[in-house]
Amino acid sequence: MPSAPRIAPSILSADFANLQTDIERARGADWLHVDVMDNHFVPNLTIGLPVVQAIRRVTEIPLDCHLMIDDPDRWAVGYAEAGAYNVTVHAEAVREPISVAMDIKAAGATAGLSLKPGTALDDWTEALRSYDTLLVMTVEPGFGGQEFMADMLDKVRRARTMVDTGHLTVIVQVDGGINADTIEQAAEAGADCFVAGSAVYGAADPARAIEALRAGAERAGRYGAPER
Ligand code: DX5
Ligand code: ZN
Repeated sequence: MPSAPRIAPSILSADFANLQTDIERARGADWLHVDVMDNHFVPNLTIGLPVVQAIRRVTEIPLDCHLMIDDPDRWAVGYAEAGAYNVTVHAEAVREPISVAMDIKAAGATAGLSLKPGTALDDWTEALRSYDTLLVMTVEPGFGGQEFMADMLDKVRRARTMVDTGHLTVIVQVDGGINADTIEQAAEAGADCFVAGSAVYGAADPARAIEALRAGAERAGRYGAPER
């Protein structure tokens, strides 16, 4: 049986003027998801390396950096060197997926590969053998607060099957539109790690929202005893 679900609040929906306070409000988070956007790969601009370095100094929560940027081959390793726990690049942007994964891991992080909704899992299964995490986007990347795309659950199911049959060894992550209503279906389909921005930071009490998400994922009944 898989271990406990991981809940990864996305600071995209936090108050950027009070980031440290909002990070501290995310008590119980397993990972802290950091959305890096460059206004090229996606039509939005957020934060980059200096902010990740600053966050790293104020929290012990493992940082999960989701790079929605062009040319991740050039930039990804810097995030690993900055102390990110996991660094995810996009399949649609990466040029040399295997060497990028090796570089990220050599710099001390785990390596993730993300697929936009229109990107097929089958085209990436070979490259994914070099990765530790697979991020299945359940919205078009770029913005928080969008509606969950339930038709992505098939991709999650197929990824789960590949892991369960030993063809891949990735953590299966979902990102986009995850909330108390949608998390159970994503968990049932086989996700291990759940990114949630607006569901956590749109709530009056982010820590309670994290617990509600965890309870929702556990309702799917796929997980063993919590490790934490
Ligand atoms: C979207 C980002 C997500 C975003 C999710 O491109 O990758 O991480 O923060 O936000 P919600 O949970 O509001 O859909
Ligand atoms: Zn993200």
